[in-house]
Amino acid sequence: MGFLREFIRNPRQTGSIAASSGPVVRMMTESLDLSSARRVIELGAGTGALTEGLLRRLDSDATLVAVELNREFADALRDRLTSDSNTVHVANRSAADLPELVREHRLGEVDAVCSSLPWTLMTPDVRGATLDAIVDVLADDGELVTLTCLHQAATAQGRRLRQMLRERFGQVRRQRVVWAAVPPMFAYRCSEPVRPAERGDRVGASATRRAT
Ligand SMILES: C[S@@+](CC[C@H](N)C(=O)[O-])C[C@H]1O[C@@H](n2cnc3c(N)ncnc32)[C@H](O)[C@@H]1O
Repeated sequence: MGFLREFIRNPRQTGSIAASSGPVVRMMTESLDLSSARRVIELGAGTGALTEGLLRRLDSDATLVAVELNREFADALRDRLTSDSNTVHVANRSAADLPELVREHRLGEVDAVCSSLPWTLMTPDVRGATLDAIVDVLADDGELVTLTCLHQAATAQGRRLRQMLRERFGQVRRQRVVWAAVPPMFAYRCSEPVRPAERGDRVGASATRRAT
């Protein structure tokens, strides 16, 4: 099951020509506090590079739900993935369905979301709805770590993504750049989810910041 083939078939959805390399998987999994996480979601699992990295670090009583929109990737991952200790599910669904998925798997509040979704290739509406779905399922002390290409961070779409994250999280911290990746990558680590009722003020505040 090749990334390149799926990228040629659907570049905007696939978002990459290759699976994440070891150094990227390390940076992503080290960016989350997985020692105490019991309910973990991965968004855009692809062929499972990050899924396997997460399983290596999670405690034996943790549950991982890996969400992947591409049916072929999801089926292949489900067939291949085994874990001696953790409970792991592969869901062939959109990340925007997260609240329903969490209900179906009876997860309750989620401790950690690990995303490698191609945010900058999504329409603003889908990106917003998917970020809202993440905020909806996260526990108050839950965290999102989301992978980004370094060169995209300075584009209008990259700046818009950062702004959308800041509207939805009290803290958005950049993680170290993985220069060994092609292209170089980093992640945003986002904590203190802002519930929709509190968000009006933050949208106003970020509009004021932009205007000044
Ligand atoms: C850049 S790849 C990352 C794959 C893998 N996690 C890795 O690091 O090698 C992004 C993945 O997100 C999936 N994807 C894109 N949009 C999605 C969505 N809305 N919901 C779930 N998965 C999605 C793509 O099919 C693709 O497998």
